[in-house]
Amino acid sequence: MSDTLDEAEVAAGELRVALVKELEHDGSLRTPHWRDAALAVPRHVFLPTFYSAVDGSDGITRYTAVNRDTDAQAWLRLAYRNTTWVTQLDHSLTQSNSEPRTGTPTSSSTLPGVVVRMLEDLDVQDGMNVLEVGTGTGYSTALLCARLGDRHVTSVEHDAALSAAARERLATLGHQPRLVVGDGAEGCPGSGPYDRIIATYSPGRVPSPWLAQALPGAVVLVSLVGSLDAYGYAKLHVDDGEAQGRFLDSDVSFMLSRETRRPAIGPLMRAAVQARDNATALDTAIHPDLLDDPAFLWSAQLAVPGTTRLRLTTDHVTGRWFLHPDDSWAVLESGNDGTTRAFQGGPRALWAELEATASTWLSHGRPGLERYGLTVSPRTNTVWLDDPGHPVGILGE
Ligand SMILES: C[S@@+](CC[C@H](N)C(=O)[O-])C[C@H]1O[C@@H](n2cnc3c(N)ncnc32)[C@H](O)[C@@H]1O
Repeated sequence: MSDTLDEAEVAAGELRVALVKELEHDGSLRTPHWRDAALAVPRHVFLPTFYSAVDGSDGITRYTAVNRDTDAQAWLRLAYRNTTWVTQLDHSLTQSNSEPRTGTPTSSSTLPGVVVRMLEDLDVQDGMNVLEVGTGTGYSTALLCARLGDRHVTSVEHDAALSAAARERLATLGHQPRLVVGDGAEGCPGSGPYDRIIATYSPGRVPSPWLAQALPGAVVLVSLVGSLDAYGYAKLHVDDGEAQGRFLDSDVSFMLSRETRRPAIGPLMRAAVQARDNATALDTAIHPDLLDDPAFLWSAQLAVPGTTRLRLTTDHVTGRWFLHPDDSWAVLESGNDGTTRAFQGGPRALWAELEATASTWLSHGRPGLERYGLTVSPRTNTVWLDDPGHPVGILGE
């Protein structure tokens, strides 16, 4: 690649064609309309700087900035990789190109395969109005603009600096959708109603303002997440002030909503590890692999909401820990020799609750996400198994 702008644009165009071919080949890009949009929108414009992540031998992930200045060729090539790129750490858009740094990702450009899969799942038609929550870099917003026209697209972002940056990038491509700063859980108050609502962050439940801002017949696409970090990607249809539909799978996941509040895990873990030394081992028939199964974790987080989990390996023993903010805890320890032992402590018998959940889940035939569905009313999000007459849990924040 030469340094001239024209040649860089040609290279970007070729990389875009290759990415589109890959997305068609893997089945995420399925229709000519979205193919045209994906060909029209240059992803690198939305990724002036992103972070490549390396997991250190100390278990800590470090991030190195990638941009035109660090290595123009690598930057462009990587921007068109079918990869999620972290674009913001610790809520800050300022970055240094020098040393790798630690931090918590707070925004990203989602895997293009997931972006286009969701847009295909949205089933849009010409003239429809779409509300996107989670503008991020603006890349998916640009795809919506390319497909539907700017005046049909509204996008809400929590972070004002990200929204402003997305606005500038969209403008360089000639797009001027309505961009709003706010909590996506409020939708876009005073606007709508919308034919389609699509979330590119993961909330714990479908917020009721989305119902209020959706037209009858609207589709809501959202990946919901619970306290055990199990995701459920749902496609809901709005009718008569309610939304109902099925979970498609657990494969679509996003960053948590910025409004999600989780308990500090350190103090809970320290207290649980101390209490474990005096706890009595329990016999258990639960295999450790079950506790890593996303479908089981989905049903478990419905049964023990607010519980978080952590996996810790020391001295050839892996502990799968479950911690509740009320100081209840449970752990399944599995050794390299195949032995397993469970322990629990605190005000409630968390291990017994997890065992009961496992036995119910197994008796239902190990249901995957596609057997679950969701009914959203203005007050409640009710998860059901197989049909709405079989409720299995309520989603919290
Ligand atoms: C995975 S990124 C979005 C990716 C984006 N669609 C793209 O193509 O680049 C998720 C974004 O959701 C935003 N977000 C998180 N919680 C939010 C909330 N409650 N309301 C609005 N935006 C939120 C984050 O700031 C982040 O920019």
